[in-house]
Amino acid sequence: MSLMGILDRVADSATFDKTIEPARRAVQAVLRPQAFKDLLHGTWLGHPVHPVLVQVPVGSWTSAGLLDAIPPLRPAATVLIGTGVAASIPAALSGAADWSEQGIGVQRLGALHAVGNTLALGLYVGSLVARARGRGGLGRVLSYAGLGVATGSAAVGGHMSYAQSSGASHSATAARAMSSDWIDLGPLDDLPEGRPALRTGSGGSVDVPLAVVRRGARVDAFIGACSHLSGPLHEGAVEQVRGTDCLVCPWHGSAFDLEDGQPRRGPAANPQDKLEIRMQAGRVMARLPGRDR
Ligand code: FES
Repeated sequence: MSLMGILDRVADSATFDKTIEPARRAVQAVLRPQAFKDLLHGTWLGHPVHPVLVQVPVGSWTSAGLLDAIPPLRPAATVLIGTGVAASIPAALSGAADWSEQGIGVQRLGALHAVGNTLALGLYVGSLVARARGRGGLGRVLSYAGLGVATGSAAVGGHMSYAQSSGASHSATAARAMSSDWIDLGPLDDLPEGRPALRTGSGGSVDVPLAVVRRGARVDAFIGACSHLSGPLHEGAVEQVRGTDCLVCPWHGSAFDLEDGQPRRGPAANPQDKLEIRMQAGRVMARLPGRDR
């Protein structure tokens, strides 16, 4: 079985579910208020912030491993290890915030990822202590062990992103199935006022659900699958969130600005793909903008 096959087995196993749910609730209780969670998700950036933050510890620790191999440069390696230890804290917080809003398969692998990262962090802290006490040899053994564990844990994190679509935009994935043609969404008067309605966009071989909101003569249409985890936006609501009219997902409460689809409240960090609208003889026509075709 391949390494990734083993990770899929872990994602399918319910062995540790009894500890995962209390941990998830504890993370959600600690990471408050919502504005703090959104900061950690990357909602303000329009992109998940965890993969950005992990660059610092990963880069610092990898560089420290190289510098430790050259005796005159070992003091610089110690500085980089300390930098990585400090930078791992915000990276861990953002990862925990994202993890607490994922499906169970991702949470199972995420728990393994967190255990690996915690072990790596402990090894690096031990390395710093050993170096401070003049035991450089032990410090290097501990930091190289930390690098090995952190690398393995990074592979688990990569599997969560690339194989389990954690952090990916599910809206963009759904948009790729759509054709580039104008789609007839029906008469304007058939759309309910001020709440989302389900319409269907034609794809190459499948129909793509759309969430369409009418406010007077104005219509906003979005890909129907929420960018966070594909929640059905047509079952959501239109609400004012942080001063803007938003389409709110019924699953985890992400709010997308009706003007441009940008997330105004998480856990979504990616925007919601929005369609262009034109009116034609009282009927609403929609199509994806150029970047999605
Ligand atoms: S699916 Fe999670 S907020 Fe929409």
